[in-house]
Amino acid sequence: MPSESLASDLEVVRNFLDRVDPPELLSEEEEARLRAEIAELMAQKNAKLVAHYYTDSVLQDLAEETGGFVGDSLEMARFGRDTDADILLVAGVRFMGETAKILSQDKTVLMPTLEATCSLDIACPIDAFSAFCDQHPDREVVVYANTSAAVKARSDWVVTSSIALDVAEHLAEQGKKILWAPDKHLGGYIQKTTGADMLLWDAACIVHEEFKFRGLQDMRKLHPDAAILAHPESPAAVLELADVVGSTTQIIKAAQQLPNSEIIVATDRGIFHKLQQLAPEKNFIIAPTAGNDATCRSCAHCPWMAMNSLQRLLTSLQDESNEVLVDSKLAEQAMRPLERMLSFATSLNVQVKGKA
Ligand code: 13P
Ligand code: SF4
Repeated sequence: MPSESLASDLEVVRNFLDRVDPPELLSEEEEARLRAEIAELMAQKNAKLVAHYYTDSVLQDLAEETGGFVGDSLEMARFGRDTDADILLVAGVRFMGETAKILSQDKTVLMPTLEATCSLDIACPIDAFSAFCDQHPDREVVVYANTSAAVKARSDWVVTSSIALDVAEHLAEQGKKILWAPDKHLGGYIQKTTGADMLLWDAACIVHEEFKFRGLQDMRKLHPDAAILAHPESPAAVLELADVVGSTTQIIKAAQQLPNSEIIVATDRGIFHKLQQLAPEKNFIIAPTAGNDATCRSCAHCPWMAMNSLQRLLTSLQDESNEVLVDSKLAEQAMRPLERMLSFATSLNVQVKGKA
């Protein structure tokens, strides 16, 4: 397990965030003009936009209006692979763009910015990870999708949060021991829920790590009838309080199905756009974080997801810039564990709402 890495990884994240400017605020007219221009160019170039639930609502709406897709990481990967578009525009973070490219090497994959990364990806560099795997050859290597192409290529399985429990259960039933990376909270949750024998890498999501048990406990007292829904990247104590733990899509589904009219949500607040669209009669409340805007790093909003903007999307489509490139040999290696996950999801019939 990497012992010395976490503090310096977080320092890398902090330095990175300090030099990244947020996108500009747009007037309504400017926004409408950009949307129309992007939609027209997409039609001309046979491009489709795939957006994650944490991105700006304007990108989510544009994706749906233009025949693209909004979803969780698993669904984004599947849509990207199955669509017949020539250009895939991925609004999300870099690992999502890389996954799309690995699964569709014949497509051009563009992103509004290639700098949109993820603290989990940063905290799992290939050399250290590979050495860790070499030390434990008896373990099946299972990695979270929030990793680089090189880390995926070194793995036996890639999983997203919507399918991680099923894969771990499947491996545990076969008596296999697991080496898990990088998210220690998701890993701990899988270990506890399935009883699988797991060795965990030490990294965390800077957004979900800010959700706090004590604050959530106090909030529950204020809203005793509310359901608590949490993403499994949150700390164990927060997950203990949750009524439902799941991926972004599983959170949205639970919010629609539960009878509670108030729902406390422990994940990135970008998801509120879809939650409010699909369950407008409900009151959604963000779970408390470590601080407020002045004192917390993310305040329940991923700073890298926030780098995706209409202006950047337009520039990348116009110039076909910010292309995601993955070395073809690496892509071939990384495709195997990714395809394995997608076939496993199909065999389980893990529901995917999008069709290409
Ligand atoms: P989902 O697969 O649940 O959308 O999660 C991706 C992610 O990065 C959460 O922080
Ligand atoms: Fe990574 Fe966390 Fe951002 Fe998801 S929310 S992309 S896990 S930093």
